[in-house]
Amino acid sequence: MTTTRSSLEIPAAHRMRRLRRSEPLRAMVRETRLAPTDFIYPIFVTHGRGVREPIASMPGQSRLSVDQLAREAAELRSLDVPAILLFGLPAYKDAQGSEAWAAEGIVQRAVRELKDAAPELVVITDVCLCEYTDHGHCGLLDEHGAVINDATVELLAQTAVSQAEAGADIIAPSDMMDGRVGVIRAALDSAGFAETALLAYAAKFASAFYGPFRDAADSAPAFGDRRAYQLDPANGREALRAIERDLAEGADMVMVKPALAWLDLVREARERVDVPLAAYNVSGEYAMVKAAAAQGWLDEERIVLEILIGIRRAGADLILTYHAKEAARWLARRSS
Ligand code: PBG
Repeated sequence: MTTTRSSLEIPAAHRMRRLRRSEPLRAMVRETRLAPTDFIYPIFVTHGRGVREPIASMPGQSRLSVDQLAREAAELRSLDVPAILLFGLPAYKDAQGSEAWAAEGIVQRAVRELKDAAPELVVITDVCLCEYTDHGHCGLLDEHGAVINDATVELLAQTAVSQAEAGADIIAPSDMMDGRVGVIRAALDSAGFAETALLAYAAKFASAFYGPFRDAADSAPAFGDRRAYQLDPANGREALRAIERDLAEGADMVMVKPALAWLDLVREARERVDVPLAAYNVSGEYAMVKAAAAQGWLDEERIVLEILIGIRRAGADLILTYHAKEAARWLARRSS
């Protein structure tokens, strides 16, 4: 027989379930909040018209042509998601990645379209060469196939200026070359874009979690890997130094990427820096959830919201996530 009275002598202060009894109580004492305004939605833009080409390894995501973007922006607005991050699939690839800084490049066209159709949407552009180079590395190669730092940084700065000219609000360098934040900042300032902000992919690790992205952006390196420029997954202290360096060079916001296996760094970065902190819930993290949910092995809605609140609890202000639209819908339903 069960009874509400007990003769057990559990100390009063050890009775913690009182505040878990009902959803209104739980909501009142909830420590961390998750809202659609925390999300940045990454998308892949491609040349052509009327294109919505599904990405096999990222169920629910598609490569979109520029004419589809106004609709995308309207949907984000209706969901209260404030920002978009653009990746481009160029019409051609070459050794330098020259479409990256072309005035009529795919990202430049996408930015102009979005700023025209939805001026309130915050447009963030990724700065890197890997989507644009025929060898798939993030910069220029020397005769041994190693990425040359300084010459690459100049091209990245040129890319950043062309994106600012198109109207980007925030420029996000993801290449991991040394000194790029400072050089990009100086290039933007001298081109008259002192108001354009920088979100540095500061703690970006060499990770197998980018697999589906490379499939989506056709940007897998043709040989070798990115370990000579992206961070070693074992190195948390080095990542904190990279964050501090990027801030010293003029970054307005910093990012940890990927998110889930690096939540310790999100927490450590949060304790050290006062600038807005972003975490990137990357393509492989998305694909794992989607694959398990499709099998019926996980409850997708609950898993996604647990992942996103976990990233916030670790200390991120902003989350770059392919789940943004669905998660925003679930949150809206829960709060109505
Ligand atoms: C470009 C870039 C990559 C991602 C964002 N920017 C790929 C890479 O570094 O190989 C990955 C994002 C994701 O996996 O969702 N360098």
